[in-house]
Amino acid sequence: MITIVGAGSTTGAALIPMLLEETDEDLQLLSSRELAYNDQRITCPVINVRDKNLLKQTIMSAMPHTVINLAAMTNVDKCESDRQTAWDMNVTLVENLARITRIIDAKLVHVSTDYVFDGTKGPYTESSVPNPISYYGKSKLAGENVCLAGNTNSIIIRTNIIYGPPRERPDFVRWVLDALESRTPIRVVDDQIGNPTYVDDLAEAIMRLGLSKRTGLYHVGGSDFLSRYDFALRIAEFFKLDPSIISRVTTAELAQPAKRPLKLGLISLKAETDLRMRMRGIDSGLSSIRQYLVRNRLDQ
Ligand SMILES: NC(=O)c1ccc[n+]([C@@H]2O[C@H](COP(=O)([O-])OP(=O)(O)OC[C@H]3O[C@@H](n4cnc5c(N)ncnc54)[C@H](OP(=O)(O)O)[C@@H]3O)[C@@H](O)[C@H]2O)c1
Repeated sequence: MITIVGAGSTTGAALIPMLLEETDEDLQLLSSRELAYNDQRITCPVINVRDKNLLKQTIMSAMPHTVINLAAMTNVDKCESDRQTAWDMNVTLVENLARITRIIDAKLVHVSTDYVFDGTKGPYTESSVPNPISYYGKSKLAGENVCLAGNTNSIIIRTNIIYGPPRERPDFVRWVLDALESRTPIRVVDDQIGNPTYVDDLAEAIMRLGLSKRTGLYHVGGSDFLSRYDFALRIAEFFKLDPSIISRVTTAELAQPAKRPLKLGLISLKAETDLRMRMRGIDSGLSSIRQYLVRNRLDQ
């Protein structure tokens, strides 16, 4: 039995079908809302994960050998203005999960972010020293610390700029494609560097690291390092759409509420070596999205 917390997340939408397809595990999916899964191997309790006692009772009723935490407050600007919710979701929840998994002798798999770094000299390895500059980054780093301190049988997977096939919550690729298709001008930052991560690669790394005996810290990011502006241009080029609606802007000009780290990116050599896996680059990720779109159009 595997429990997934935050099962309604973007990452959950890729991970859950993969676990059903590639393992024999039963799944307990915890979410704040009804999820549309119909499979005998799945139970889907709707719960408030911030209710510590209910969380403990619910997980203990399933006795999973592994708990995967995908729940987080991920809106970087909102984390700045609603610090209580950010702390509850990104730290206290992880602390509670670490305690519960330790009691039932289960492994805890927790997902974190490259925003734990200050973005002065990326890309970063697992041994680089974190220095978050936003409340989101600070809360996620505190979440990593309570995870590792609360359950030694735990694994933290840091990732960045998740993208994939269209899901409920639009990601960067969806946002750019919608703008290109409707010819709505967009301004995209040209000084924030990262290595966008195809969601299925992240899901595969979570599944395989989660089911292994490995513990500790792993970085999982795509194989191309580029700015958001260059990523937007690559999307236009790949889908043969006119890029003239995309204009460049600097992070300083955008003046968003939360400070953004600039030179980020995660070196994934450790995960790639241990899992014998190659993370996708941009063209391969966009090609997977196109295949998904074509398949779904044919299915309709
Ligand atoms: N998206 C990215 O580009 C990115 C980049 C770096 C790191 N990460 C990390 O990767 C992990 C997964 O990210 P994601 O983008 O897949 O997540 P996501 O789509 O933003 O979903 C997060 C989930 O957390 C739960 N949640 C959020 N706020 C909540 C609240 N106030 N009360 C109860 N539940 C709440 C919800 O789960 P339910 O819908 O099931 O209730 C929500 O679907 C996170 O730890 C994130 O920090 C993401």
